[in-house]
Amino acid sequence: MKIAVLRERRPHEKRVAASPETVKKLIALGASIAIETGAGQGSRVPDSAFEGAGATIVADAAAAVADADILLTVQRPDAAVLANAKPGVLVIGLLAPYAEKEALAPLSAKAALFAMEFVPRISRAQAMDALSSQANLAGYKAVIDAASEFSRAMPMMMTAAGTVAPARVLVFGAGVAGLQAIATARRLGAIVSATDVRPASKEQVESLGATFVAVIDDEFKQAETAAGYAKPMSPKYQAKQAALIAETIKKQDIAICTALIPGRKAPVLITEEMVATMKPGSIIVDLAVEQGGNCPLSKPGEVVEVNGVTLMGHLNVPSRIAQDSSNLYAKNLLNLVTLLVDKSTKTLNVPWDDEIVKGALVAKDGAIVHPQLQG
Ligand code: NAI
Repeated sequence: MKIAVLRERRPHEKRVAASPETVKKLIALGASIAIETGAGQGSRVPDSAFEGAGATIVADAAAAVADADILLTVQRPDAAVLANAKPGVLVIGLLAPYAEKEALAPLSAKAALFAMEFVPRISRAQAMDALSSQANLAGYKAVIDAASEFSRAMPMMMTAAGTVAPARVLVFGAGVAGLQAIATARRLGAIVSATDVRPASKEQVESLGATFVAVIDDEFKQAETAAGYAKPMSPKYQAKQAALIAETIKKQDIAICTALIPGRKAPVLITEEMVATMKPGSIIVDLAVEQGGNCPLSKPGEVVEVNGVTLMGHLNVPSRIAQDSSNLYAKNLLNLVTLLVDKSTKTLNVPWDDEIVKGALVAKDGAIVHPQLQG
């Protein structure tokens, strides 16, 4: 069983799909590992560290994928990378199955595709949940980015020269990224509040010492899908929510936007008019910018200022904290690969009927097979 890991080729991508620790564990499972030279550079892992863990460093992608049974990636590779690969190779990565659905077909001609985004969020698969491992770090980094751009301090400070007031932070969306943003802002000493439409989030927000701000009506009580995600809200609810946010946001210094609905455009929660009411020097970090943004003024990949309010639209925030995000992501991949290996014979033996395998498999034998990608 040969596993290949390539240097990521997309802009803004510093992560790598293996760590020296996971290389050792994959070898213990019976694999040989070929890593393209320089693959770990963005995550500060030199070739020598991978080599020390037992991997073979190869000169280019073609050499890495030749004879590989599994290709581990961070982002979806271009089909050209597979020119040299064995038919039926398993490609496992963050394939952006909703946003880049059309790009899956050319890859599926050669490979079976597993999207880490589709690993079911059941307890057995928690250690494979890359959405959570990456969102958690993105939530942390969003607050650090905001604090570094903010021209004031986060905690209250009583000094001989006077008192520094604590920053007020409002977090939009209290999922994995939002809860970590709350915890991080609290650790920095800010006064934190948060809003979400899922009832379960109220208790989670409050348990972190933040104030929950939301319109709690009948629609709110049913806003969570069976899968634990938010539903798109009705125009009536959105209007009530907007009125509440308009009142709240005026008093904030920092807004951290993490609200998402899987497979759809992100909800607009901070309108242009609301931004106009914010204090000069306020910061908005829009982690939803790649899905259209929670604020229409944020620009993908840019930091812009509008009427004294700074909007930070960094792309691929997990990659901005690449050492940790790579380590956690590599572990997520290791745990999924472990499921695909027969431990007694140390060979690849994919349990195609397993709930996790079925959940993550998007294409096989040249066809897109995932129910959420049909039609
Ligand atoms: P996500 O990234 O899809 O969305 C982020 C947050 O935005 C969610 O909390 C969502 O409710 C919120 N949101 C959507 N529309 C909104 C609106 N109009 N206004 C305000 N907030 C809005 O969600 P994420 O972080 O992936 O988590 C989704 C759920 O999955 C959560 O319930 C989380 O606790 C659960 N989960 C379960 C896991 C497990 O059991 N293994 C692992 C990770 C998450």
